[in-house]
Amino acid sequence: MKLLKCLSRPLGFREGIIVVAVVTLAGSVAYVAPASGQASGGVAPTYGITLPQGYRDWTLISVARVGGPLNDMRAKLGNDVAIRAYRDGKLPFPDGTIIARLAWNQSTSEENNNAVRAVLERGLGPDTAQKVLAESFVAGAPSNVQFMVKDSNKYGSTGGWGFAQFTDGKPDGEAVLKTCFACHAPAKDRDFVFTRYSR
Ligand code: HEC
Repeated sequence: MKLLKCLSRPLGFREGIIVVAVVTLAGSVAYVAPASGQASGGVAPTYGITLPQGYRDWTLISVARVGGPLNDMRAKLGNDVAIRAYRDGKLPFPDGTIIARLAWNQSTSEENNNAVRAVLERGLGPDTAQKVLAESFVAGAPSNVQFMVKDSNKYGSTGGWGFAQFTDGKPDGEAVLKTCFACHAPAKDRDFVFTRYSR
């Protein structure tokens, strides 16, 4: 009886943990679905990749900007497997790694510029302030999202990576996917991944 009593406490505690875990999981699934913003829009050709669920909530790896006439701003996000490999400096990236490259048209925020103009002019003088403002940008409309998915068996002929591109949640066609691996080839020493982790 005494033993039973002793046992009943840890069992109850464990059950509590399971309930909490299930509730947390349910909550995160419910949260992730709308936050991804882009509903499933089919399977990208060639590599058979669908838009990964919840990618918009993944962890930031780094940012980049591409100059004119492209003028877009980019963020690279990684799923948990990608981030662990990056932080551990692990190469090649393990199967299950997914790296996302988000891009937006570079845009100017008059609201931001107007808010800081006077302070900049006072501190830097009108000419320099104008220069700073002319080169201050924010992310505008999204252009497309690209993914690299690691599966060394499935994608053995392209360095273990599958490539996909989506515009407005819809997969882009075969023609653009033909360009991916060839252009990533110069990064072979880093498992075909250009982006380094920014601390
Ligand atoms: C003209 C060369 C070129 C082509 C074509 C290209 N990429 Fe990239 N890609 C890059 C470079 C350079 C970077 C790093 C800088 C950046 O993001 O702008 C990059 C970054 C990426 C990243 C982030 C991880 C990394 O390697 O840094 C992903 C994901 C990606 N590209 C996917 C694709 C997909 C999918 C395609 C085909 C639809 C593609 N790329 C086509 C050159 C290219």
